[in-house]
Amino acid sequence: METPVNFDYAPAPESRAIVTIKPTYGHFIAGKFVAGRKHFPTINPATEEVLSQIALAGKAEVDSAIAAARKAYITTWSKLSGKERGKYLFRIARIMQERAREFAVLETLDNGKPIRESRDVDVPLAAAHFFYHAGWADKLEFAGLGTSTKPHGVAGQIIPWNFPLLMLSWKVAPALATGNTVVLKPAESTSLTALLFAEVCQQAELPAGVVNIVTGDGSTGALIVNHPGIDKIAFTGSTEVGKIIARAVAPTHKSVTLELGGKAANIIFDDAAIDEAIEGIVNGVFFNQGHVCCAGSRLLLQENIVDEVLEKLKVRMAKIRVGDPMDKNTDLGAINSKEQLLKIQDLSRVGESEGGARWSAPCDFPKKGFWFAPTIFTGVTQAHRIAREEIFGPVLSVLTFRTPQEAMDKANNTPFGLSAGIWSEKGSRILWASQQLRAGVIWVNTFNKFDPTSPFGGYKESGWGREGGRHGLSAYLKGVGHE
Ligand code: NAI
Ligand code: MG
Repeated sequence: METPVNFDYAPAPESRAIVTIKPTYGHFIAGKFVAGRKHFPTINPATEEVLSQIALAGKAEVDSAIAAARKAYITTWSKLSGKERGKYLFRIARIMQERAREFAVLETLDNGKPIRESRDVDVPLAAAHFFYHAGWADKLEFAGLGTSTKPHGVAGQIIPWNFPLLMLSWKVAPALATGNTVVLKPAESTSLTALLFAEVCQQAELPAGVVNIVTGDGSTGALIVNHPGIDKIAFTGSTEVGKIIARAVAPTHKSVTLELGGKAANIIFDDAAIDEAIEGIVNGVFFNQGHVCCAGSRLLLQENIVDEVLEKLKVRMAKIRVGDPMDKNTDLGAINSKEQLLKIQDLSRVGESEGGARWSAPCDFPKKGFWFAPTIFTGVTQAHRIAREEIFGPVLSVLTFRTPQEAMDKANNTPFGLSAGIWSEKGSRILWASQQLRAGVIWVNTFNKFDPTSPFGGYKESGWGREGGRHGLSAYLKGVGHE
């Protein structure tokens, strides 16, 4: 017998020498870093190493950031032409590209996502959002949103930890392009790239107060949401907090967009190109550790291809490389926090107790840090919690269907409606299915593809309004967005 060939990869670690992490950070208010009063640690979830101490903004800091944003709005930003605003956005985009490696390394250290993804997805897309919106700044009257559009004024923006820099760019770029000033709060476990972005604003000589960044937890977020000096709230995060925000702003003048959870159906018809679909399933739910609001976390398989798909899927999943996010060969990095790991473990236990059959790819985890193996559950029914709730981890629930109509009924049987995937070679079926699905984004024969020109957002409990594209501009203009 021949000796089996060893296909193990040699380690290919990215160097962290390019980043300088300060022991403590303050807030970025009126163009300057202001020392914080209270602090909390941010860690590297792959090693549990404390990276830095992040400031916790209270009422005084939030008040002064909002006052700085108001002053900048009145005295500078609202007086600039779109063409001038666009120049700043182009400048920011170019600096982000120049400092791309620094952003990627910092994002991976603070978030736990593989360097391959922060380098090839998060950072290039973040820069692309600034380039795209820089182009709109002087052309707003041609966006089909009226010829004399007006910004809201001061936007309060609250973002999650799964795509820290990318979510910042989804929020800040359209706000500035349309003439608003902003106060942004990053998520508590991933503030570092937002603070590096503050340095980029200084480097681009963006007028003081146009972008303000305050760090902190949910209490800081609530102070922004409830502040009378805010004209517009943009939030991405859990549906639970989204509902709190919707209630808080309902009786006020504030305009709001919410980008919340999802439980997307990834539907594989029996005529699909199976090998390609396997790649789409893997990319759909294991990309970014499954910390993706639009993840294809419910796989709907046509009954006659179940055995073939599951067999191939397990072979493919066993090849997913789990481990050190700084290694360029890693596919699946660390779970972002201990709390999130506990939530994934809990829901997986519920999946088993409700009767789902669990299979996890074999993996060796590093000794420290937060890890979860790529996992699938078969025998899942629509009533199971793992078919209804967002797990936000590398866990796939597999359901089956016989007829195309049954696939549509099951796909739509969810309180969410953020995204969906269709795999079929048949054009008429694709068009029919995409009209039935109640989801904001529908991918066909692909999954988790993002582009700044394409609007993104949800139906039902997945949120209000759209971000990106021409539609996303309307959210930052008076009278044309979701009021
Ligand atoms: P979260 O919704 O609590 O946090 C998102 C952001 O909102 C953070 O910046 C946080 O500081 C802020 N925040 C928290 N409470 C707030 C409040 N009352 N008012 C204003 N801002 C507030 O999400 P968390 O706790 O990090 O994750 C919990 C679950 O939410 C996850 O397990 C996942 O299922 C889901 N999630 C979904 C996301 C998505 O993009 N759909 C993103 C993050 C979490
Ligand atoms: Mg962190």
